[in-house]
Amino acid sequence: MERFKIFVTRRIPETGLEKLRAACQVEVWQGDLPPERDTLIEKVRGMDGILCLLSDRVDREIMDAAGGQLRAISTYAVGTDNIDLDEATRRGIPVGHTPGVLTEACADLAFALLMAAARKVVLGDRQVREGLWRTWEPQGWLGADVHRATLGLVGFGRIGQAVARRAAGFDMRVLYFDPSVQDPADGMGQAVELDEILRESDFVSLHAPLTPDTRHLINRESIKKMKAGAILVNTARGGLVDQDALAEGLSSGHLAGAALDVTDPEPLPTGHALLGMENVIITPHIASASRATREQMALIAADNLLAGLRGERLPFCANPRVYLK
Ligand code: DGY
Repeated sequence: MERFKIFVTRRIPETGLEKLRAACQVEVWQGDLPPERDTLIEKVRGMDGILCLLSDRVDREIMDAAGGQLRAISTYAVGTDNIDLDEATRRGIPVGHTPGVLTEACADLAFALLMAAARKVVLGDRQVREGLWRTWEPQGWLGADVHRATLGLVGFGRIGQAVARRAAGFDMRVLYFDPSVQDPADGMGQAVELDEILRESDFVSLHAPLTPDTRHLINRESIKKMKAGAILVNTARGGLVDQDALAEGLSSGHLAGAALDVTDPEPLPTGHALLGMENVIITPHIASASRATREQMALIAADNLLAGLRGERLPFCANPRVYLK
């Protein structure tokens, strides 16, 4: 294969980089933080391929800067809300992503957060370390039961369904809302409207992609509709939630807690109301962060990019319409 030039916007696991280096001239951004916008624009100039992260906005400006020879974009993520897919499709550029391999890891983390929020695991740990645990407390750190509670899943694709499988082990009643799911697996839950999820669920867990339609899907109105004492879990994208409304819902006591692996922006600015709340858990976008999953993601991201450079169909293409032209 011709030695295509590619830019990788961060150090991803070596397994993926080795594959790329075997076939291409690879430049990897060595910074611990993503390249600044101006740097990214400079770095992509003349590249045949770009392997990006969810923290890089890849839009028309970046595609213009790369130039007409740009043949493929591959993201080291399943979510593609940071990439202008319509623009890439218009230019005939396939965009690869990494669905499937991270499903179980993301569902594990969603369930871990749900349980941690329900049973005050993070607060308890913090207070023990602060010396606030003096004796066994008959009424201290009381939380909510997970077993036999109602779980509402907003989004019932691969990850939502994997969370439902975990919930079955806890005898939970599972409701889900997902207009795009035509043929859900039998017996995994009950399809309902969003309002019913909000009204009925003790735990609401978000598993929808971020699109213009889903931005702030959880807003003041929807939070008001949530059951008193409910807990919100978000491992999808921060933009799904109006965070000011969430902070109000928590400080008023209407919601019992929230567990967020994603925020908008990431990280939240110092002093943000959510950071100061005892009933909020925030983790640093680690849903897919198991060693094995990240290795798999690196391999798939590399395979997608290499296929695109060779003019072959991407194994996992986020804009399959590109092949209709
Ligand atoms: C994704 O892949 O979109 C996750 O948010 C990070 O792995």
